[in-house]
Amino acid sequence: MTLPHQLQGRLRLPVIAAPMFLGSGLDLVIGACRAGVVGTFPALNLRTTEDFGDWLTRIDEALAEPDAHGRAPAPYGVNFVVHRTNKRIEADLEQIVKHEVPVVITSLGAAKDVVDAVHSYGGLVFHDVVNAAFASKAAEAGVDGLILVSAGSGGHSGGLNPFALISEVRRVWDGPLVLGGALSTGRDVLAAQAAGADLAYMGTRFLATEESIITEEYRKMLVEAGADDIIYTPSISTIPANFLRESIARAGLDPDHLPVPEKVDVSHVTNPHTEEPASTSSTVAPKAWRDVWSAGHSVAGIREVVPVADLVDQLEAEYTTAKGDLLALIG
Ligand SMILES: Cc1cc2nc3c(=O)[nH]c(=O)nc-3n(C[C@H](O)[C@H](O)[C@H](O)COP(=O)(O)O)c2cc1C
Repeated sequence: MTLPHQLQGRLRLPVIAAPMFLGSGLDLVIGACRAGVVGTFPALNLRTTEDFGDWLTRIDEALAEPDAHGRAPAPYGVNFVVHRTNKRIEADLEQIVKHEVPVVITSLGAAKDVVDAVHSYGGLVFHDVVNAAFASKAAEAGVDGLILVSAGSGGHSGGLNPFALISEVRRVWDGPLVLGGALSTGRDVLAAQAAGADLAYMGTRFLATEESIITEEYRKMLVEAGADDIIYTPSISTIPANFLRESIARAGLDPDHLPVPEKVDVSHVTNPHTEEPASTSSTVAPKAWRDVWSAGHSVAGIREVVPVADLVDQLEAEYTTAKGDLLALIG
């Protein structure tokens, strides 16, 4: 276990509330950090770099004060898409450095100059990967940790089983690991650690909180859906991702006969606020994330929508119980 020193002693639970496009808002990020886990959001949730900088200022202010028990809040993080088609790379990176964002989660590309910029103020770079080949590239760029996005994750998901993914990545990386994919309870957090991860990465579970910025219908679907209601498809976003079946149907598509994308197109990921829909095929696709709602297999463990502080309390209680159960089992 190798938690970077910047996080040691700073977390109540080894959990990162994962960044979610159109899902993680200010209240969720701040609420998660104040509850003792790393709260994060994608820089591209904001339409402009100026708005992004404003959010960073508000987070800095909100997290400057200790909580009611005198504890410092957990550090926060930002998801930063490193791809040549992201028109805001330089300007957003300037804001990241200016605000000294504690944890930067890079995706699509791992670049040494980004890593160097974040290291210049003592920040951490975690890079998300779905296989060992991307893990090797990220290691070469000098990142501090790898986030393994395994099968069943919300958003753009990997296809590998978490045990297999950890074993593959451990061949090329012996540093900090964060495991994501279908984790929904405190017991799952402990299981991620037992499997060799340092931290658990939970997205969908945090989407089903009062603070997420999704609609009530979306929240209701998260509570009612089971893992069978999640469809893994490249059709909506051109990159394979998990979506709620019912939301696909409501958007006017047949979930059992989805169009096959002609090519991968990440422009709607790197510039999501343009009005162009993702060009998945000759048919006009509805907008991923806005009209078709993403969620992972962890909906299986979601029974209710709660405030984020209550969710973290619940995860901690489950984690403690699971530790006791495990010790009783294996002695
Ligand atoms: C609605 C939604 C939006 C997401 N948007 C992003 C994003 O903008 N950037 C990113 O790196 N990951 C994104 N993700 C993936 C999460 O950060 C994380 O990898 C995933 O939720 C983990 O799996 P879980 O949902 O099963 O917990 C998104 C996930 C969901 C559910």
